[in-house]
Amino acid sequence: MCGIVGYIGKKQCQGLLMEGLKRLEYRGYDSAGIAVIEPTPGTAAPGTKATLRTERAVGRVANLEDRLEKIGGLHGTVGLAHTRWATHGGVTVDNAHPHRDDKNGICLVHNGIIENYATLRTLLEEKGHRFQSQTDTEVLAMLIGELYDPEQGLEAAVQAALREVTGAYAICVICERDPDVMVCARKGSPLMVGIGAGEYVVASDPSAIVAHTTQAMALDDYTVVKITRDGFRTSTLDNTETTPKVMQLELELEQIEMGGFQHYMQKEIHEQPKAIRNTLRGRIDEKDWVIRLGGLQEKAKELVKAKRIVLIGQGTALHAAMIGEYMLEDIAVIPAEWQYGSEFRYRNPIVEENTVVVAVSQSGETADTLAALDEAKERGALALGVVNAVGSTISRETDAGVYIRVGPEIGVASTKAFVGQVAALSLISIYLGRRRFLSPPRCEWLLRQLQQIPGKIERVLEQDDVIRAVAAKYVERENWLFLGRGYNYPTALEGALKLKEISYIHAEGMPAAEMKHGPIALIDDGMPAVFIANKGPQYDKVMSNIAEVRARGGHVIAVATEGDEDIKRVAEDVLWVPDVPDQLSPMVTVVPLQLLAYHAAVIRGHDVDKPRNLAKSVTVE
Ligand code: G6P
Repeated sequence: MCGIVGYIGKKQCQGLLMEGLKRLEYRGYDSAGIAVIEPTPGTAAPGTKATLRTERAVGRVANLEDRLEKIGGLHGTVGLAHTRWATHGGVTVDNAHPHRDDKNGICLVHNGIIENYATLRTLLEEKGHRFQSQTDTEVLAMLIGELYDPEQGLEAAVQAALREVTGAYAICVICERDPDVMVCARKGSPLMVGIGAGEYVVASDPSAIVAHTTQAMALDDYTVVKITRDGFRTSTLDNTETTPKVMQLELELEQIEMGGFQHYMQKEIHEQPKAIRNTLRGRIDEKDWVIRLGGLQEKAKELVKAKRIVLIGQGTALHAAMIGEYMLEDIAVIPAEWQYGSEFRYRNPIVEENTVVVAVSQSGETADTLAALDEAKERGALALGVVNAVGSTISRETDAGVYIRVGPEIGVASTKAFVGQVAALSLISIYLGRRRFLSPPRCEWLLRQLQQIPGKIERVLEQDDVIRAVAAKYVERENWLFLGRGYNYPTALEGALKLKEISYIHAEGMPAAEMKHGPIALIDDGMPAVFIANKGPQYDKVMSNIAEVRARGGHVIAVATEGDEDIKRVAEDVLWVPDVPDQLSPMVTVVPLQLLAYHAAVIRGHDVDKPRNLAKSVTVE
């Protein structure tokens, strides 16, 4: 949610900043802006006398690019840029970042929410400041400007301002009067500093950094970093110097390129077999069918004693968490439940002794999930993470965890992360099961089945054309139902979510049995009902639910097991999947639903990778 990129070094920075923005555009794309410190012509050293110039545009980064072309570009070696996902204030040029103060040439970009911005704004207005926007960010720019003292410099002003602020922020600040310095800080929202030779690239995530350097520093909450071309200094808000944590980024550039596919989402759907192979790699010892999860080792004893496991997440990650609940109950025989992070935090969650909380998150930065995690830890829970982004906040704030290792996911609608999360949760369930009641033969059988999942997904992907034809047939329908039972109830929710997110078609997912308790009133000739009807313990029940829809003139699209002759008689269209054990089936049954949504969105002409109103990583509650 909102992408930040900043540069200080010896190169002209506009191209680099715009390139970075494009990589970060998945985080939000309502509007974009850039600021560059331009040395005044005729002065010798860069930045000795400077003018701060900004350019902003509503809409995609491409619109900002057009504006820059029209004005002949911005020229300088210190700058910052931002792509926005609006929180405070509508989508207008005035509300787009960067924001400036009205006194000292301070300019900043921000990701997060300043919660006490209204109070601060009133105080600043009383001091005579006049605001141009409705944003919380402009308040922060003004506050830094108000506290700026040329003797003390930009770093001191940022520290002082942040001491007054409540809320979440990742900020990058530059100043016309201090033109060879950039100051960044974070609390709650992600930010890292790429360290090159005499140059630094600051960004919300590594994708905007790896083209320039693979050495980076992740900032802890309440850390301020002052960067010049010669080095950097990290400190707390009260200016105590801290030791920076420098790490090596493992991301490869090709992982974040499209590689011949039309969209990132399409690429990521097709990457799912590889994604699961990576989740499993090195974790299953085939000699004695033992699972090795290095990230859980230290806490294994405590985990086995768990009396209750609460899985939390949002969006797609929550659907994976729901499947995790079924698996933990079924395979590990531990009472488990799922909860939205956003709800867990604000009720009175009962955390008794031996409660384990598992935060499921692709980005590892989702504010709702993080807030729940903090609350659970506060109440004494052991915290586990099932996370994709290495080094992300959730991965750092949990006591133990399992990385899903599916590689960067860039399409806003999550796909490969979902199967990776389910695969990781199945590993955790079998790992715990084996230490409790799961017999060795049953464990071996489950693991062998798990290893076959990638191949089975490949078989589904081969039917891409058939699924596209089904999408084309129903694409004009505005209301859809997705129905499944047991393990595939969450799959139904995920199928409906995918369709909503990228096709803007109204879709509802629910347990197939629930339909007759109300939603069946919606069924008519115009409504497609997608049933996940693969062979499993509840197959007969699902068939009865299908009959109920058919009897009322509804159109049935079924996800069914290859070789099922009966389904052909009741479903108008069938999306075939290979036979797969019930517990592991969502990783396979979800794939035709992802493709259905993808093709529907493409046919409807939507921007699949950047659906309207959404952002990939939602770092506000
Ligand atoms: C946002 C995204 C969803 C994602 C959810 C949770 O809403 O648009 O695609 O599933 O956040 O994200 P996380 O990074 O925690 O998995």
